[in-house]
Amino acid sequence: MKFTALLFPVAVLGAACPYGPGSFEPEKETDTRGVCPMLNALANHGFLPRNGRNINENQTVTALNTALNLTPDFGRFLFTAARLSNPKPNSTWFNLDHLDRHNLFEHDGSLSRQDAYFGQWSRFNETVWNWTMDYWTGDILDVQIIANGRAQRSMRSNLTNPDFAISELGNAFSYGENAAILSILGDKVTETCPKIFADYLFRNERLPYAVGWQKSKIPIEMNDLRNTIHSILNATAFPPLPPPDNSFDVFN
Ligand code: HEM
Repeated sequence: MKFTALLFPVAVLGAACPYGPGSFEPEKETDTRGVCPMLNALANHGFLPRNGRNINENQTVTALNTALNLTPDFGRFLFTAARLSNPKPNSTWFNLDHLDRHNLFEHDGSLSRQDAYFGQWSRFNETVWNWTMDYWTGDILDVQIIANGRAQRSMRSNLTNPDFAISELGNAFSYGENAAILSILGDKVTETCPKIFADYLFRNERLPYAVGWQKSKIPIEMNDLRNTIHSILNATAFPPLPPPDNSFDVFN
């Protein structure tokens, strides 16, 4: 991925197809949005239905492939999670706000959303985001910074939210979303992402073309995300203890 500013092609793209997929229009009051900043952005760009409703597998796979270069297999996998969040059993579609169902995939300790215990939990929250940014020390996010940011949100929820809970699935999603910042929004090879890309995406729910982002030139598979999840898991087990020093016993 090239990290230079690429304002010109964006302007051209926008001018060439003002209403087609790719052009940004902020959500309207009648549109539906939800917890996922990336899916919200894809709807704002028209890669997904702009109203955020009745999204089927084909639309999801095509949007994730066209906008982000996710492989169709990966897209189908993600769609399965999405459609399972539709409260209607055996659904073949979902609305973006179906993803808000607390403690299904949506979980406490998000990077930019407050825990459901404290109130509205599905939309961007400036205070929560600033907590994350405090731990995102450096202009380039790497595995350790992302691990630190994720861990502080869990710790803060654990300390302040009496209802704090996270299921195995929620935990996996939490690692997965954090990994997605590096391997989908950033560069899956180096497992890094310019902080400005994430900040722009989260705040504006808009793909960060204006600050130099381009979709990955190489296709992104589920395995790429898995690798980065493992990197983050390892980096969350903060520096291992030094080997035991048996030359003295501090308790005697
Ligand atoms: C069909 C595809 C997708 C589904 C079903 C989905 C679902 C979700 C859900 C349920 C959440 C809320 C988790 C929470 O409680 O914080 C979420 C958050 C998130 N998603 Fe997605 N997502 C999808 C695609 C993507 C893609 C392609 C990216 C790429 C960058 C992405 C990035 C994120 C990030 C970074 C968050 C964390 C938000 C936060 O912690 O504040 N998602 N997504």
